[in-house]
Amino acid sequence: MWKLLLVALSVCLTKAAKLDEVFAWNELSFAWPSDEIREKALNSGDYVPANNLPLGLDRWKDKLFVTVPRWKAGVAASLGYLPLSSANKTASVIPYPDWKANTLPHGDEKPEDNHIISTFRVKVDQCDRLWVMDTGLADILGEPKQISPPAIVVFDLKTDKLLRRYTLQPTDLKEDSFFANIVVDVDPAECDKAFAYIPDLGEYGLVVYSWADNDSWRVKHNFFYFDPLKGDFNVGGVNFQWTDGVFGLALGPRQQDGYRTLYFHPLASTREFSVNTHVLQNKTVATDPHSYYLFKIEGNRGDLTQASASDFDEKANVLFLTQLNRDGVACWNPKKTLNSQSLALVAQDKEALIFTNDIKVDPERNLWILSDKMPIFIYKQLDASQVNYRIFKAKVDDLIKDTVCSV
Ligand SMILES: *[C@@H]1O[C@H](CO)[C@@H](O)[C@H](O)[C@H]1NC(C)=O
Ligand SMILES: *[C@@H]1O[C@H](CO)[C@@H](O)[C@H](O)[C@H]1NC(C)=O
Ligand SMILES: *[C@@H]1O[C@H](CO)[C@@H](O)[C@H](O)[C@H]1NC(C)=O
Repeated sequence: MWKLLLVALSVCLTKAAKLDEVFAWNELSFAWPSDEIREKALNSGDYVPANNLPLGLDRWKDKLFVTVPRWKAGVAASLGYLPLSSANKTASVIPYPDWKANTLPHGDEKPEDNHIISTFRVKVDQCDRLWVMDTGLADILGEPKQISPPAIVVFDLKTDKLLRRYTLQPTDLKEDSFFANIVVDVDPAECDKAFAYIPDLGEYGLVVYSWADNDSWRVKHNFFYFDPLKGDFNVGGVNFQWTDGVFGLALGPRQQDGYRTLYFHPLASTREFSVNTHVLQNKTVATDPHSYYLFKIEGNRGDLTQASASDFDEKANVLFLTQLNRDGVACWNPKKTLNSQSLALVAQDKEALIFTNDIKVDPERNLWILSDKMPIFIYKQLDASQVNYRIFKAKVDDLIKDTVCSV
């Protein structure tokens, strides 16, 4: 009887039918130059398969980029891609831009400018560039080593060449800064006027980078802090408390004047906030304490709606958000005031969507979802005999059909 009830419950809680499972791994594999090199890395501890957890993603044409932060030692490469042309669900990650850029320097070796030490999320912009937020920090949960300072690393996706490496300024950083996300604001007609917005979840700030000025500034606001009542999580059978501040950022449609609304939320929070990009892009205004009221409260999403990443589909005017405590993904159409009624859960699966870590809407209006059971990886241990990491894709219009998001 109980079993029957549980089955019935899990069926109605499973809303993954609209999702197409594109990748599913027990452990992540990499495209090593040779078996010999792989063996050597395994023997030396430079590669510990169980320590390679995929976390962030974004798509450019036939490449699906994935990040593998150096939480623990033995990460083969922190940035790579999966070829979307191959129909192999357990495809190997191909390091990007190459193996060398992803290899930790030995001894006094000075890494080349295109190196990636550890990255959480990346962003493909509308000018065929890949923006990587390299934290420079290896072995985060073990013996943390700051190998290079946090930097924005930008590649030309057409040539795979480095366009720029910008080291964040000392004034952009604080002692417990943690940069795990990056969004890019650019009009494809004016590629050299790009801005990047980088949330600091550890010290509750936002760093703005202007490509044209090659300058950055740090923005402060109370809305960047976590809610002390919303830091309790239960995910994949693990209970934990987090204090992560501003995290998910997503840009709304461009207005007539060229500016956009940046929607944002702290991770340990159920509220959504916003600010117009004209506030952030002007260094004077952005750093002026009198700008306090230029930041808006959009609303409260309701219980258990804590979210990591978010992204926006402009055609449907819908914001998508991961739902960490609900093993799923939700949507909200900003035409409606945000509350628990205007938020719709569009995907949920108590196994396959444990810790939806990153989502992205691609130019063809597919929503990509990466789930990776991260709390089990951090606080317990993943079971390598089971599927632990999954990447799904779904059509935005299919997801929001018959929900409050499609108005
Ligand atoms: C899929 O990729 C994995 C990892 O690269 C490889 O071991 C396996 O042989 C591939 N499967 C097929 C059917 O090509
Ligand atoms: C950007 O500024 C940094 C100093 O913050 C400098 O080292 C770098 O050369 C500049 N890059 C460009 C492209 O101007
Ligand atoms: C930034 O805002 C200030 C104050 O409103 C204004 O005086 C200044 O011209 C603006 N700067 C730019 C580059 O738009």
